[in-house]
Amino acid sequence: MSKILKIGHRGAKGHLVENTLESINKALQLNVDGIEIDVHVCKSGELVVFHDFTLDRMTNATGEIGKYTLTQLKQFKVNGNYQIPTLVEVLNLIDNKCLLNIELKGEYTAKPVVDLLSKYYDKNIDNIVLSSFLKEELTQVSKLNPSIALGVLTKASVNQALKFAKTINAKSIHPNFALLSQSNVAKVQDEGFKVYTWTVNDQDSINRMKTYGVDAIISDYPDRI
Ligand code: G3P
Ligand code: MG
Repeated sequence: MSKILKIGHRGAKGHLVENTLESINKALQLNVDGIEIDVHVCKSGELVVFHDFTLDRMTNATGEIGKYTLTQLKQFKVNGNYQIPTLVEVLNLIDNKCLLNIELKGEYTAKPVVDLLSKYYDKNIDNIVLSSFLKEELTQVSKLNPSIALGVLTKASVNQALKFAKTINAKSIHPNFALLSQSNVAKVQDEGFKVYTWTVNDQDSINRMKTYGVDAIISDYPDRI
């Protein structure tokens, strides 16, 4: 059996505030094999690393993230102390030290992400996986640059994700761990796709995913894997 990749969720969300440079740095210190982050496009066109579609839960501002410019977003405080990073800042910090799983969370992220990666990861595209729940974004990436590894996220159906993955030549299926069984993991792998599962935090579930032989576990506590 090949090694199971340990991937920090939103950096290392269980240790430090999600999707911040500090959280990503913490994940690197924990010797992860990879880091997952979420991206949106802001009003001035830059890619920013943030999970929610609105600022309300995580910052001292309110409203949709896409309605603010980068200058404005940089003034807001994430969880009191932190800043919203840009994808460029994250790429510079990770600097190819591990796999980067960029989740295309917002609409219209496919093209700017592909353009940015062509600058930063010209020769090291192997260190990138782009995943999304949004079929449109994944389809666009597959057309813009078929050599970028794609992952199909699902919290509904492994079979449907598998079906769609075939149409865009994706490399991996990213199901919520509650959807997995020994047999559907084997089926996905037999069909030539990898299984990256999320967000697996408790030790029993982590151990169960290991016995299923998933390819990667995405966790707020990657040190538990
Ligand atoms: O990419 C795995 C996971 O991050 C998907 O769900 O809501 O945490 O972005 P969410
Ligand atoms: Mg995510």
